[in-house]
Amino acid sequence: MKRAVYPGSFDPMTYGHLDIINRASEIFDVLIVSVLNNNQKTPLFSVEERVKILREATRHLSNVKVDSFSGLLTNYAAENDLHVAVRGLRAITDFEYELQLAQTNRLLSGGKLDTVFLTTSLEYAYLSSSSVKEIASFGGDISKAVPDFVAEQIFEKYRSR
Ligand code: PNS
Repeated sequence: MKRAVYPGSFDPMTYGHLDIINRASEIFDVLIVSVLNNNQKTPLFSVEERVKILREATRHLSNVKVDSFSGLLTNYAAENDLHVAVRGLRAITDFEYELQLAQTNRLLSGGKLDTVFLTTSLEYAYLSSSSVKEIASFGGDISKAVPDFVAEQIFEKYRSR
């Protein structure tokens, strides 16, 4: 059975992430989408909120599970017997960082964790969680970037600030 992990911050999940999740779920028997609990960053959404959003958005995909992790991805992967990480590549600007991450993970895991890249569908190539947050913070239109129920939660966060 081929299992893979799709790690990320998902703050918040966008249609770009969903595109990768949908496609990776067709390639692997089980896909675990795992939210990094990074206490060095101040996220818009808590880890619990991000997990809940991802669960809601992927509930039609029976082989997708949503989880969270802290610390090194290689430790999480080893503890859960996962040997493939999935990452999306939007543009050449992502490449250097992603290459470094993939090679570091391979080294840290003693060759046990490989990374598989999926190129983001062109219609989402411009999308990032940061730009979604910036647009939303100024009351802009994010309807093409995230599902409606996510947009509502993002605007609610900025309203209550
Ligand atoms: O969505 P992001 O922020 O681009 O995801 C980055 C992520 C979570 C995949 C990456 O930062 C990560 O795996 N962090 C955990 C710590 C780690 O294992 N770092 C790799 C060695 S530098």
